[in-house]
Amino acid sequence: MAGHEVYTSIDIGSRSFKGTVVGVKGDSFEVLGYAEVNARGIESGDIKDVAAFKEAFNYLTDELAKQYPRLSKSEVLISFSSNKFTLESHKEKFSLVEDDEEGEAMITEELLDDLRYEVFERLSGPESGKKVLNMFTKKFVLNGSRIVFNPVDMSARDIEMEVSTVRIDYPIGESLRATLEDVIGIEPVMFSSPISSAEGTLTATEKDSGVVLVDLGYNFSTVVAYLNNMPIRLEYVPLGIRNVIKDIVYVFRTSFDEAETMLKSYGFAVYDPTEDLDMEIEYREIDGRTVKKVSAGKFALVVNARLMEIFNKVRRVYKDFERSVQEYRENGIPGGVVLTGGGARIKRVSDLATQVLRTNVRVGSFLRSFPVGSERVIGDEEVTDNPSYSATFGNVVNFLKVESEMQRPQPKKSSGFMKGFKKFLKNLF
Ligand SMILES: Nc1ncnc2c1ncn2[C@@H]1O[C@H](COP(=O)(O)OP(=O)(O)OP(=O)(O)O)[C@@H](O)[C@H]1O
Ligand SMILES: [Mg+2]
Repeated sequence: MAGHEVYTSIDIGSRSFKGTVVGVKGDSFEVLGYAEVNARGIESGDIKDVAAFKEAFNYLTDELAKQYPRLSKSEVLISFSSNKFTLESHKEKFSLVEDDEEGEAMITEELLDDLRYEVFERLSGPESGKKVLNMFTKKFVLNGSRIVFNPVDMSARDIEMEVSTVRIDYPIGESLRATLEDVIGIEPVMFSSPISSAEGTLTATEKDSGVVLVDLGYNFSTVVAYLNNMPIRLEYVPLGIRNVIKDIVYVFRTSFDEAETMLKSYGFAVYDPTEDLDMEIEYREIDGRTVKKVSAGKFALVVNARLMEIFNKVRRVYKDFERSVQEYRENGIPGGVVLTGGGARIKRVSDLATQVLRTNVRVGSFLRSFPVGSERVIGDEEVTDNPSYSATFGNVVNFLKVESEMQRPQPKKSSGFMKGFKKFLKNLF
């Protein structure tokens, strides 16, 4: 894959840090390396132990560098998970001509980029108390009344820009940014994991016509609704796969790690007596010596009970979206639910989700966000078709999207702009 851009993309989760090295050429993506390490030193995006965080982070990048030795030359993109992200709408107004001036001003690509940058500056930083991690342009209102989606080549006296942002409290985002800058030696490009997960798993049609993404994470589950190509709702269910693991610990008196291994190897979301669930699972109790056995069927009952509770809570959120969004109320949510995150790897989890949510459910991965046979994704399916890695791919998708949005058609004028653009990219995300 000659002449490609290479991205090192890292998703900082509360159970593990996932990293992929992705080469992009034209519209295809090639995985050049991937690794996962246990999370340390961070909770919900909040740095708790800098040394432990750095150690885990460096361990991950060392693993990636073994697979792709020129890692240090690649662009670094980072997402992180938190239950403190907020999705908000903002309207920002600008005068394009002085009060005493006659007539209207022409809106150019350059002007629009400057406005985006200005809006970003207003919404992100210590004064706003927040840090912007994702920004989506919804629409523009010209002269207080004319609604347009692309105002380029139109004239107006004033323009209002409506955007949606995903933000985090400034001190949390800033402390993570500073720590990352310290470890990687450059300013990190930062996104929120839920939006990266969505961008890395949802198809273009799903995002446009309406869909709900459920990230079955470790500490909590995140529910994101999309419509017209952007997120319109973001909610949390305060239960995650950690709760399933803790139930296994409690019922079978195992260590936490043993319980997690059991879940990964033998976990079934649905108890189905017609299936071969008589198979015996061997495990060790907390003392690490006593060996016990349980049938896969009995084990499935424990996993099933907590997952049912999680999906019942997700269902409430889903129903609330259906009721509160006008387009959904009229047509339902055409894309139904897409499951992602480590929990989406539990066997038959989509069957259970279909039963409880009573809508169409699929498991999402980067590979599955493209039509079958599109051949745009090259690499080991162990990573490209793995819901745990969704956000790492989504980071690249996000970055390319913003880059193309900001790309001006006339490269001749680009030197000053490129500086501004780079500054924007550095600050945004
Ligand atoms: N193959 C698997 N089968 C069953 N469970 C799995 C599998 N792989 C991972 N998990 C579990 O899924 C859970 C969530 O993993 P994930 O990687 O999504 O968490 P995270 O991204 O670190 O957390 P968060 O996004 O909530 O901060 C983990 O507890 C993990 O044990
Ligand atoms: Mg995650």
